[in-house]
Amino acid sequence: MIYLNGKFMPIEEAFIPVLDRGFIFGDGVYEVIPVYSRKPFRLAEHLIRLQHSLDGIRLKNPCSNDEWRNILEQIIANNDGEDQYLYLHITRGVAKRDHAFPANVSPTVFIMSNPLPQPPEELLKTGASAITANDNRWIRCDVKAISLLPNVLLRQLAVDRHALETILIRNQFLTEGAASNIFIVKDKVLLAPPKSNLMLPGITYDVVLELAAANQIPHEIREISETETRMADEILLTSSTKEIMPITLLDNHPVGDGKPGELFRQLHALYQEYKATHMRGQVTSRLTN
Ligand code: PDD
Repeated sequence: MIYLNGKFMPIEEAFIPVLDRGFIFGDGVYEVIPVYSRKPFRLAEHLIRLQHSLDGIRLKNPCSNDEWRNILEQIIANNDGEDQYLYLHITRGVAKRDHAFPANVSPTVFIMSNPLPQPPEELLKTGASAITANDNRWIRCDVKAISLLPNVLLRQLAVDRHALETILIRNQFLTEGAASNIFIVKDKVLLAPPKSNLMLPGITYDVVLELAAANQIPHEIREISETETRMADEILLTSSTKEIMPITLLDNHPVGDGKPGELFRQLHALYQEYKATHMRGQVTSRLTN
């Protein structure tokens, strides 16, 4: 069952008019929210980021947080699987084609859920491969916009080369992945690029940094150069659907010794522990402030 503009229905019955500005202009924003044991993970943080994205495109939030929680609860209850991922999408609505904002138009709100598979055990053991590419996206990458054409093209470059992800470099500095955040490890220190308009502020990125802080793992938030990325001892990828994954091959060169490293193992275990506390209902929000 999906949600479209106030109604719940099977996806086969859901249609939107061709003049929807999401279809015509990619004029909208979205969120992807993981659900473990039927409990949405870090929902408060996802709703804050949704508000940031809506502010970024000057679109009024159509629901209060309580209303979102209520709709999402119903979607979770009416879909199969203990673990799901919610896709929540808001566009500026349906109007005669004109670039400028239409007056008095209601936004289109669409929510669906899909089963959330655990990242493949094999990839966690061996690590995944990634390629690099020039980050040619716009400079509001902090807005989770549905207009994802550059990300689509960049991710396809990885698929064409049998890699999992494309790691993006802008002006000789690491930004993020085509659909993930990227950390590196050098001399046992976890390094994270600082949040800015050039990357999406990942919810998983925050969890990883909070886990590092709470567990005395040395970490630094600072610009990471392309050279440092290529010389890293470890590269880690994070996203809501992939959790935390080791990248062991970059542009066909081994990362460090070419095997998932110690910090990956430690952070992956901490992440699983944190998820388990969440599933027991013992975590409502951030570990640290
Ligand atoms: N993508 N950067 C980009 C460009 C992303 O698209 C994503 C997530 C992330 C990681 O953010 P988070 O940890 O909040 O998932 C970073 C989602 C999963 C997607 O588009 O499907």
